[in-house]
Amino acid sequence: MVQKEMSDGIFNITKGSRRGLATKNLDPGAGVYGEKLVTIEGNEYRMWNPKRSKLAAMALKRMRIPIRHDSRVLYLGAASGTTVSHVSDMVPDGVVYAVEFSARTIRDLVQMCERRSNIVPILADATHPSSYAHIVGPVDVIFQDVAQPNQAKIAIINARRFLKNGGHLLLSIKARSVDTVASPDKIFKEEIRTLEADDVGFHVSNRQDLSPFHEDHMGVVAERKIVKE
Ligand SMILES: C[S@@+](CC[C@H](N)C(=O)[O-])C[C@H]1O[C@@H](n2cnc3c(N)ncnc32)[C@H](O)[C@@H]1O
Repeated sequence: MVQKEMSDGIFNITKGSRRGLATKNLDPGAGVYGEKLVTIEGNEYRMWNPKRSKLAAMALKRMRIPIRHDSRVLYLGAASGTTVSHVSDMVPDGVVYAVEFSARTIRDLVQMCERRSNIVPILADATHPSSYAHIVGPVDVIFQDVAQPNQAKIAIINARRFLKNGGHLLLSIKARSVDTVASPDKIFKEEIRTLEADDVGFHVSNRQDLSPFHEDHMGVVAERKIVKE
């Protein structure tokens, strides 16, 4: 029976046949989407499948996940809340602003929020950050998984509005959403160039291909440079 913390709030667990990533359940006794629950030394963990989550794949690829127990996280592309629920576990003293533009998809997430008070569901388009600026304040981390053609641009406009100096962007880039024919490598380079060239001040500290968990996806960790006032 082993439980090792890989990064704040992300655990590597081995118990009998159960082995893999997990987060400590903020709502003990209840699962969210049918994931397995495992109890070790009185703590309940929710198993986290990297094939169902770009963020879990990034953690398994040993990318630094700069989310702390009290982080304020802006999550773009929340869908029904699979990964959002694990981020909620990771920030028991923080908050997750979960933005999703499909009313149908966000329904399950809204239901989950009745049991998890640190998630704020927002039905909005991430390309229009002004539409949720009255709800979201400055954040420590932006996680983005929107599968859209202009992924770097969406990250930039949100970072400009909400990301603190020194804050981090965790970005999943899906090559096929940018261009269905160009080589993924070329697309990733261009998206990263767009990020680094913008005067929002991003420094990309790590990038990793997310295969075999997600084909033609790249995980990116970037820091917004600290600007002295
Ligand atoms: C790949 S799925 C996200 C999966 C989710 N991150 C998870 O791991 O559980 C992409 C989601 O982004 C949403 N999306 C795409 N473009 C968006 C936009 N401009 N604003 C908000 N949500 C968007 C889609 O509706 C879809 O639910």
